[in-house]
Amino acid sequence: MQLVENKRFISFEGIDFSGKSTQIDLLKKYLESRHQQVYFIREPGGTRISEKIREILLDHRNETMEARTEILLYSAARAQLVSETIIPLLQQGHFVIADRFVDSTTAYQGYGREMDLAIVDNINQAATLGLLPGITFYLELPPELALQRMQESGRSADRLEKAGIDFFVRVFNGYKIIAETNPQRFCIIKAEQSVEVIHHIIKQEVSKRLGL
Ligand code: TMP
Repeated sequence: MQLVENKRFISFEGIDFSGKSTQIDLLKKYLESRHQQVYFIREPGGTRISEKIREILLDHRNETMEARTEILLYSAARAQLVSETIIPLLQQGHFVIADRFVDSTTAYQGYGREMDLAIVDNINQAATLGLLPGITFYLELPPELALQRMQESGRSADRLEKAGIDFFVRVFNGYKIIAETNPQRFCIIKAEQSVEVIHHIIKQEVSKRLGL
């Protein structure tokens, strides 16, 4: 079920440290320079309720959280965001750029935490009412490089990052499967390339698909 026109709904996916935030900023500025109204949303989060859920999810004291609890919390945060923010903005004809959406749940909880993929799909469907982005940019970064970037950044590891390299390898492999089985929606970009080259690829894709 597709409730609203999703052409202007763009998501970014990738394992941590794949450079999503930089590219989201650049795309937002580019679209604004084309006189488009652009809203940015971050998952999990983006509404008052969803931000509260984010705090629970990223809190290092919650290390014993069950995979089922985790997926339901991510999905609860998303359900609120879809109804309160994303659908109304798309209905008004605005652009919505999402830092992560359902593909993160399939990659991290489905493949990373090795949950039953059919159950993950059902939960995703319930949370989004079937809404999917029109374009998903997947910044593909090998897990070893992600861990190296994490160590170089000096940022302390959150609950998921503490899961270790095996987890990231499963997430990475999962993203590959998701992206390759949805070729119309996904644009796969090698994240080791320079910021400028990646931005150029993204602009070309947006212009090809949306004429902007
Ligand atoms: P980030 O968006 O700042 O990278 O952090 C969010 C973390 O949450 C990241 O490690 C990926 C993880 N995540 C999931 O495991 N499942 C999800 O559905 C989403 C949206 C994020």
